[in-house]
Amino acid sequence: MIQINEHYQKLAASYLFVDIAKSIRAHQEAHPEQDIIKLGIGDVTRPLPAATLEALHTAIDEMASPDTFRGYGPEQGYDFLREAIAREDFQSRGVAISPDDVFVSDGSKCDTGNIQELFSPDLRVAVPDPVYPVYVDTNVMAGRTGVFENGRYQGLTYLAGTKENGFVPPPPKEEVDLIYLCFPNNPTGATATREQLAAYVEYARKHQALILFDAAYVSFIRDPDLPHSIFEIPGAETCAVEFRSFSKTAGFTGLRCAYTVIPPTVQAWTSNGTPVAVRDLWARRQTTKFNGASYPIQRAAGAIYTPRGTEEVRSLTDYYLENARIIRQGLDQAGFNSYGGKNAPYVWVDAQRPSWELFHLLLEKAGVVTTPGAGFGAAGEGYIRISAFNDREKVERAMERIQAALK
Ligand code: MLT
Repeated sequence: MIQINEHYQKLAASYLFVDIAKSIRAHQEAHPEQDIIKLGIGDVTRPLPAATLEALHTAIDEMASPDTFRGYGPEQGYDFLREAIAREDFQSRGVAISPDDVFVSDGSKCDTGNIQELFSPDLRVAVPDPVYPVYVDTNVMAGRTGVFENGRYQGLTYLAGTKENGFVPPPPKEEVDLIYLCFPNNPTGATATREQLAAYVEYARKHQALILFDAAYVSFIRDPDLPHSIFEIPGAETCAVEFRSFSKTAGFTGLRCAYTVIPPTVQAWTSNGTPVAVRDLWARRQTTKFNGASYPIQRAAGAIYTPRGTEEVRSLTDYYLENARIIRQGLDQAGFNSYGGKNAPYVWVDAQRPSWELFHLLLEKAGVVTTPGAGFGAAGEGYIRISAFNDREKVERAMERIQAALK
């Protein structure tokens, strides 16, 4: 008899966005006439930047000729992309990341979900609350938690982001080994200052902990004082791993390309105290379980780093940031306090009632899909997240409908 991994039994029946999709389908079946505007899951709607499309077409044509055809690529990613990433995303900001530290992949969801398997099942893990559910669920699957009770898993340390701390929780008081951080934050849209990140780096160095820093939304930062990378904080090169994605930066949610950065100085320890380079462990894991992102997609990602690609990405992210501004303004007019949405594509709204209640109210009365904050954790209760990823006209219409529905 094949026995399941019992830890799966502790998980919620389905993934948050699957639950929401079910609610939307049920609503659509009951009201087929209503046109629904989706500002729920953070999925991009605008076409790919022209520079990436051109590179994609060229790369596909290369696959049609025996001289330029490519089979398996290097598991860690092609040199042309890793070199561009190291140079443009890090070295240009004075951060000493080398192409050898960069691992190209097909998504940050998989990378942030998979990385925990390099570490002991007994690790003490801290996650933000509200949280991108992948960090939690993958640790539940790996058996690092007890059961789910009162909105939280036993055995996890939750770092609550609240109105009072500006949704940037300080490092935990207790000792933990693995800390997930995400800035600009999903779901609150909060950003962390250099000083706030430095407090985490200091904590990690003191406790020989590791920070897993998810920077999937970095291309939305406009405030020149905000750090873009955890590696801009001195000392982080010994205690942090960073995840970045082209999904929201360049409209790649359908193409799939991301990367993980691990400097050689980041260490974990064996049970008898021997240090091991995390970069080597990740290389071992990836070469065993992953065969690399596809060549045409990596060429498309490489085009983001050309002058034209950079400009197009900037205008794409500006477009969504203007949507976020329209959302914040619309909510303000509707009498809601909202947060985020300035250096991030998500607006975090004080729901003034339970979050699923406002979710259903907006779906039913306005035909607008949002994400209930409770789905991101106990500290998300009382909030909803509104995503700026949609077409301008739909965002404007959604805000008009929300204002009318809440009058
Ligand atoms: C979200 O809506 O939170 C994002 O789409 C999640 C993701 O990027 O996987």
